[in-house]
Amino acid sequence: VRKGVAMFETLEPLAPDSILGVTIAYRRDTSPLKVDLGVGVYRDDSGNTPVPAAVREAERALIGAQTTKSYVGPAGNLEFNERIIALALGPLAAGLADRTATIQTVGGCGALRLGAELVKVARPDTVVHVSDPTWANHEPLIGSSGMRLERYPYFDAARREVAFDAMLSHIDQLPAASLVLLHACCHNPTGADLSPNQWQELAAVIERRGLVPFVDLAYQGFGDDLDADAVGLRTLAGRVPELLLAVSCSKNFGLYRERTGALAVISANSVSRTAVATHQARLARRMYSMPPDHGAAIVARVLADASLRQHWEEEVGSMVARMKSLRALFAARLTARLPGHDFSWVTRQRGMFSFSGLTKAHVDALKEKYGIYIVGSGRINVAGMTPSNMGALCDAIAEVLK
Ligand code: LMR
Repeated sequence: VRKGVAMFETLEPLAPDSILGVTIAYRRDTSPLKVDLGVGVYRDDSGNTPVPAAVREAERALIGAQTTKSYVGPAGNLEFNERIIALALGPLAAGLADRTATIQTVGGCGALRLGAELVKVARPDTVVHVSDPTWANHEPLIGSSGMRLERYPYFDAARREVAFDAMLSHIDQLPAASLVLLHACCHNPTGADLSPNQWQELAAVIERRGLVPFVDLAYQGFGDDLDADAVGLRTLAGRVPELLLAVSCSKNFGLYRERTGALAVISANSVSRTAVATHQARLARRMYSMPPDHGAAIVARVLADASLRQHWEEEVGSMVARMKSLRALFAARLTARLPGHDFSWVTRQRGMFSFSGLTKAHVDALKEKYGIYIVGSGRINVAGMTPSNMGALCDAIAEVLK
């Protein structure tokens, strides 16, 4: 050992990540009956996370046609950027194009972080307001930019729905230019979303108070369908002068490990848009230089080819149909086992997650006694259920709730 300063001796090991740590513990468990309802990945009835057939087909074509692996550039695949934002903004995309600067990012996480870094450069004293609760990685990702974070009320735990009045009146008191992080659909972790009318009311308050929405669109197509899940985003984008949008292709394109996403920033005018694009590129260059190409090139192909696109849309439709039928089965089975309890909220929630109300003690008991893995907050990934694990799962939950 060389003499000198021991650089890393000051470091203490960290506790496992609250979500990814569940996957590690699950993988270590040797029981054949174990069930993973932790990390938010879609699964089919055999517990596999499939690559959609349309994505595989686009990937094969891409590999056949690709003649170089030379650099693409800090903004990534420009066709991907245009098409993914058109998918998100729908009919509004064309009219907003001269105010929108889009950069391909390292997944949705990269978009959230890059967006936060951009705001930090533009207005360093900005306070970011996130829902209480929110996805466990939102605060670390955004807070690492150095911006201050605060929480707005979001969830009515007793009724298991959005505490909309409390949310709205809180947001209606925020200072102008505050950043408000909103989940476009399939709220993570609660599964409780705003209705289209509530989005209208919220957008009116955000516009009137001069707030800036930062919309996280990680589950487009997983709530109801691709357009319905973008209603909130489009309502906001149609009204406010400035908006940030983080898009993830992990779930709906099944491209988790390819880290495919985009950050779109809508500015008040095309002059600001040009400046934003240069800052996005510089921030990317300073952090990781350029995004990985593969996933974005696949998505661009799927979205450009009418028949691949239709096939992919059908595949997303069947994923959401499966999750809805699992919710119905889960609610029915739990009600049969615990007739005094109301489980109707399970089918009102949207997307992969169900905020079950299970406490940390319940979660620990489910893991230790039954090999059922759930995030400590009580968030359940509905997509991890299968018709064959449902009976044992509901028995175990009924047992710990008794
Ligand atoms: C989740 O919430 O489980 C997913 O978004 C995956 C992740 O990175 O945490």
